[in-house]
Amino acid sequence: MTVAAHQADLIGNTDLLRIDSLSQLTGCEIFIKCEYQNPGGSIKDRAALQMVQDAMQSGQLKRGMTIVEGTAGNTGIGLALVAKSFGLQMLAVMPNDQAKEKERVLELYGAKLMTVDPCPFSNPNHFYHKACKLAAQHKDHWWANQFENTSNMRAHYLHTGPEIWQQMQHKVDILVASAGTGGTIAGTSVYLKEQHAGLQVWLVDPDGSGLYQYLKSGEFANQGSSMTEGIGIMRLVENFRQAKVDRAINLPDRDLLTLSRFVRNKDGIVLGSSSALNVAGALAAAVISGPGKRIVTFACDLGERSASKLYNPQYLQQRGLLDYDKDIQHLLARYRSDAFAASIVGK
Ligand SMILES: Cc1ncc(COP(=O)(O)O)c(C=O)c1O
Repeated sequence: MTVAAHQADLIGNTDLLRIDSLSQLTGCEIFIKCEYQNPGGSIKDRAALQMVQDAMQSGQLKRGMTIVEGTAGNTGIGLALVAKSFGLQMLAVMPNDQAKEKERVLELYGAKLMTVDPCPFSNPNHFYHKACKLAAQHKDHWWANQFENTSNMRAHYLHTGPEIWQQMQHKVDILVASAGTGGTIAGTSVYLKEQHAGLQVWLVDPDGSGLYQYLKSGEFANQGSSMTEGIGIMRLVENFRQAKVDRAINLPDRDLLTLSRFVRNKDGIVLGSSSALNVAGALAAAVISGPGKRIVTFACDLGERSASKLYNPQYLQQRGLLDYDKDIQHLLARYRSDAFAASIVGK
């Protein structure tokens, strides 16, 4: 055990947890990387730290400056925390339809918060363009640009991937991940495939995201929408472009409900919405691949960050999800069906 000098020094080196209930159900071993253990409460602390370290090293970012970033929340929280360790300020630009829990945490960390109406990427008021513009207008602002800045995936290539490889004792068959910027899936897939070329990488994509369709047809298209936050993209960004993906599946929000309640009740883990999607993806990969596989995915944050959506009966009612199918056996049966197998992209 060591004593850290800064909060930022506590980022990474998260535990790996075997999910007993799902492992027993499938005959595979299903593991989650407990990224909620990062001090800012999510996997995005890693990208935040690497982006800041690299920018300070190259001289683009200096003490006293302000980091500005467009974020669904978690990257902003990570950057706010890292900013304090390096004598920087933080300004987060966030769409106003994200869970209020994350706005609150951002402010608790002392970040400035600007919320904007959600709009398509083509609109100049999109949070991404707004952050870019703010940085251009102020000489002492630096735009982190998590989508195109490959320090993001470098965090996972340098740290998350090697941690998984070592914790899994060099035995991992399948990696499952969703993508928000693609930093996680790119950095870990590249690293782990360098160690074990036979590793299979599965992307799990929510409704409302275009990545599944992009991998299927080369065109970005989506259908429906999802309550998940921080994941799903409708354009090709540099971090995702570098991901090495073998298979892609698309899962609806109903699956997250069944899965999150099952894992909470059986294993005592209250997953955030993207984590529930990842674990549902891992379950699907286990069912499709058959027993004996060692499968790893990410618990990106905890249910506390999704309390007002995934765990809120009023919200679920509004979305017509309150009568979701609670039986995990039905979910397993669907993943075993020919229709599901036919929907999988890739070999
Ligand atoms: C909760 C959560 N899960 C997953 C992701 C996706 O990670 P990545 O941006 O590395 O693709 C994010 C990104 O913001 C997130 O906030």
